[in-house]
Amino acid sequence: MKMNIPITKTIFGDEEKEAIVKPLETGWVVQGPNVAKFQTMFVEFTGSKYAHAASNCTTALHLGLEAMGIAKGDKVIVPSFTYVASANAVEYTGAEVIFCDIDLKTFNIDETKLEKIIKSDSSIKAIMPVNLFGLCANMPYIMELAKKYNLKIIEDSACGFDGWIEDKHSGTFGDCGCFSFHPRKSICTGEGGMLITNDENIANKVSQLKDHGASKSDLQRHKEKGGSLLPDFTMRGYNYRMTDMQGAVGVCQMDRKEYIMNGRREVAAKYDVVLKDISQLVTPYIPENYKHGYQSYVCIFTDGEDISNLSKEQIDRINIKRNIFMEKLEEMTIATRQGTHAVHTLGYYKNKNNFKDEDFLMSYAADRLSIALPLYAGMSDAEFDYVITNIKEALK
Ligand SMILES: Cc1ncc(COP(=O)(O)O)c(C=O)c1O
Repeated sequence: MKMNIPITKTIFGDEEKEAIVKPLETGWVVQGPNVAKFQTMFVEFTGSKYAHAASNCTTALHLGLEAMGIAKGDKVIVPSFTYVASANAVEYTGAEVIFCDIDLKTFNIDETKLEKIIKSDSSIKAIMPVNLFGLCANMPYIMELAKKYNLKIIEDSACGFDGWIEDKHSGTFGDCGCFSFHPRKSICTGEGGMLITNDENIANKVSQLKDHGASKSDLQRHKEKGGSLLPDFTMRGYNYRMTDMQGAVGVCQMDRKEYIMNGRREVAAKYDVVLKDISQLVTPYIPENYKHGYQSYVCIFTDGEDISNLSKEQIDRINIKRNIFMEKLEEMTIATRQGTHAVHTLGYYKNKNNFKDEDFLMSYAADRLSIALPLYAGMSDAEFDYVITNIKEALK
């Protein structure tokens, strides 16, 4: 009998259902006490000084870039294998995206390529490392480079919740870090994002920019005397506010994070064991002292070939087989996805820069050969066994 296995599952319970109606009852539906509590919980969990909720991670990235002073004429280094939103956020500021290839082992920016790129162009003002799929990029080394070349760092931690290097949480290494609470992420508020920083100046700017540039938030105004007067608007801002219903769900998701994250890690550990003996798949690599957040469990499909010296031809050949493998699993109603995309191969960026697929070969390989397997807290043994049995069958 077929089982329906989704790529992931949001985990909501009665607490979320009860919490989401409270703002409707009080009438405080935008950026009120629940958003404030969600922010405080995020500060406590990540160890950052400040947290500001936003409408999603893309807008949080835009806010962070603008608060760091990134603007037209500047260039920002972004890994070429990431979700398109990382690059788009840079474009919103008028700055130019400079792509850097990734390390196929970690799916993260190849830090060994960074220094050459930095030295080649004095307009480069910032790096946006992406802590992809829950694994931190080599942030200690990237921070050394930032110091040496006086660059700003904004971590795209959309997938980075509960990812760590030793005792430092994803998103706390750079000048700021941004998280997503989209349903594909570990904790979810529908849409939703959060920016964290230790820099008071960035925190203040983000707080204003996300609220049309208002010098005081509604919450502040209503708590103080003289709330009937509108505040001054001292910058040209945006409306990137989070609703208080989302904030209320966020608070419940933070209360539920141990269950969600332990559940995801348990399934990931089971995959690690069972897939070790399958030569067609390479399981996620975790450097020493790193703790993976497992936003996704992403393997490389090798078809059993040696992939240490990949060419475009080899990638294209194996890609055909990966796609057939994914189709076979889909026929068994098991959802899989390619990890994410090679942004330099997407129409907009490809046409703008005349990129060829092989310009960032490891990103191209990651796009064509990666496969994310179903992962969610509460996956039953029967569901897990069904996935594994069908993976083995499809690889025969
Ligand atoms: C690496 C990365 N950056 C940014 C985003 C954008 O997040 P959001 O959908 O919350 O704007 C995502 C979402 O999928 C992502 O995976």
